[in-house]
Amino acid sequence: MNVILLGPPGAGKGTQAKMLVEEYQIPQISTGDILRAAVKEGSPLGKEAKACMDKGELVPDSVVIGIVEERIQQPDCAKGYMLDGFPRTVPQAEALDGMLQNLSSQIDHVVSIEVASEELVGRLTGRRTCRDCGVGFHVMFDPPEQEGVCDKCGGELYQRDDDNVETVTSRLEVYESQTLPLIDYYTAQEKIRPIDGVGDIKEIFGRVTQVLS
Ligand code: AP5
Ligand code: MG
Ligand code: ZN
Repeated sequence: MNVILLGPPGAGKGTQAKMLVEEYQIPQISTGDILRAAVKEGSPLGKEAKACMDKGELVPDSVVIGIVEERIQQPDCAKGYMLDGFPRTVPQAEALDGMLQNLSSQIDHVVSIEVASEELVGRLTGRRTCRDCGVGFHVMFDPPEQEGVCDKCGGELYQRDDDNVETVTSRLEVYESQTLPLIDYYTAQEKIRPIDGVGDIKEIFGRVTQVLS
């Protein structure tokens, strides 16, 4: 099963993906996580990506398309995968369709997590992320048992560089202008599965598994 998790910044793509990995035993492929790992390493890719990410802009299509093309051919993707945060532009979606065609494969579902933009700013500015395992928490909506410490692995929680009001505002604008057209793109392919992304995290998980089963 090959799934795309689509939704604005803060919709809960990463939160749901982490739970879906356990449920379906297929990997989460988050281009954001891959780019943040490159930034941490200080590789040339990381340096290029950081400049875009800090401004809340997208990294060039060619860069992320190359990353995904390589990643989906790894052995752990043989039974399927979840794309989290990719594609984010129509050219990325077209490139994905092209590469899947060459691999005689396809996307089965595009889960579109819907949350109104008023709610997203608070979710993002209150997010805390684990440095070691990448799990996300929220200071109010999903607090860890011990402040600053990951429940899952004991790692240190930090605030992402792009989770400040200014960058969040620009990320939301970029989503509206560049990513929202993908709803029409995948509606035309009859792959869109809309999910109400407001409410209890576990309840939303139930909604997602229902459309995937
Ligand atoms: P990326 O890391 O993908 O960020 P994003 O799309 O902005 O999405 P987020 O990770 O912020 O949101 P999420 O939906 O995962 O929310 P989460 O589950 O954590 O990308 C970062 C940057 O990398 C981009 O800006 C771009 O520069 C670059 N990039 C990445 N992919 C790219 C691509 N394909 N092309 C070009 N550039 C690319 O939840 C958020 C918070 O809300 C958490 O605190 C969580 O605890 C809380 N929460 C979750 N669910 C609920 C709920 N139901 N109720 C209340 N709170 C909740
Ligand atoms: Mg995420
Ligand atoms: Zn952790």
